[in-house]
Amino acid sequence: MKENIDRNNLPKHIAIIMDGNGRWAKKQGAMRIFGHRNAIQAVRDAIEGAGEIGIQHLTLFSFSTENWSRPQDEIQALMQLLVETIVSEMPRVMKNNVRLNTIGDIKSLPTSTYEKLVEAVHQTSTNTGLTVHFALSYSGQWELTEAAKRIAQKVSEGKLSPEEITNATVADHLDTAGIPDPELMIRTSGEFRISNFLLWQLAYTELYFSDVLWPDFRKEHLFAAIEDYQKRERRFGKTGEQVKP
Ligand code: IPE
Ligand code: IPE
Ligand code: MG
Repeated sequence: MKENIDRNNLPKHIAIIMDGNGRWAKKQGAMRIFGHRNAIQAVRDAIEGAGEIGIQHLTLFSFSTENWSRPQDEIQALMQLLVETIVSEMPRVMKNNVRLNTIGDIKSLPTSTYEKLVEAVHQTSTNTGLTVHFALSYSGQWELTEAAKRIAQKVSEGKLSPEEITNATVADHLDTAGIPDPELMIRTSGEFRISNFLLWQLAYTELYFSDVLWPDFRKEHLFAAIEDYQKRERRFGKTGEQVKP
C-alpha cells in the first residue's frame, strides 16, 4: 500500500472529518463514549501514517461548533477524554517530532481542556515534523464570521480600505492563516457532507469518502485515500489539455 504512493505527488495538507464513533459503539451495544475512546487509536494511526510518508499538515475535525448541542454528558466525557489523551500521548508526540496546533474557538472549551491544549501547543512548538491541527469548537462559518469582524475592525480604524480587500486578505484573517489549503479531505462513516468544516479552504480540495467508521480507520485507509488522490486530474478551472504535464 505505502509502496504505491508517489512521493513526488504528495498532498502537503490532508484534512479529515473523523466521523462514526457513535455508530461504531452502537454496533456493539456500547455507549457512544466507548466509540470516542476507541477513536484514539485511529488518530494515532493517522498521525503516524501521515508523518511516515512526509505529509506536512494534518487537520483533524475533533469537535464542531454544532457538537455543543449534544447531550451534556457526552460533551463532558469528550472534553475529559481530550485532556487525558493529550497527557498520555505527549511522549509519543515528542518522539515523533509532531507539532500540535489548534483552530477554532478553544477559549470556549472547559478551562482544564483549554490549558492542557495551550501547554501542548507550546511544548511541541519547536518540533519540525508533521503539524497536526486539531479543529475544536470549530466551524467554517464561525471562522469566516470572526475573520469578517477582524477585517471590519481594521477598516473602521483606517488601517485597511475596502478596495484593498482581496482573497488573500480573507485567508490571512482565518485561523488557518499561513497554512496551505488541504489538497485532500477525507470523511469517514459514509456521510457525504462537509458539516461546516473548512468552508473557505476546501474550495479546490479533492474529496474522499470512506465507509469505514472512524474507530476502525488505520494507516492503510489513509494510504488508500492518498493513492486515490494521486490518480485524479486537478484542473482548477482549466481544460484537461492545459494541465497535462
Ligand atoms: C465523530 O463521531 C466524533 C465527533 C463528532 C465528536 P460521532 O460521535 O459523530 O459518531 P456518529 O456520527 O454518531 O456515529
Ligand atoms: C462532524 O461530525 C464533526 C466532527 C467530526 C467533529 P458530526 O457527526 O458532528 O456531523 P453531522 O452532524 O452528522 O453532519
Ligand atoms: Mg457523526
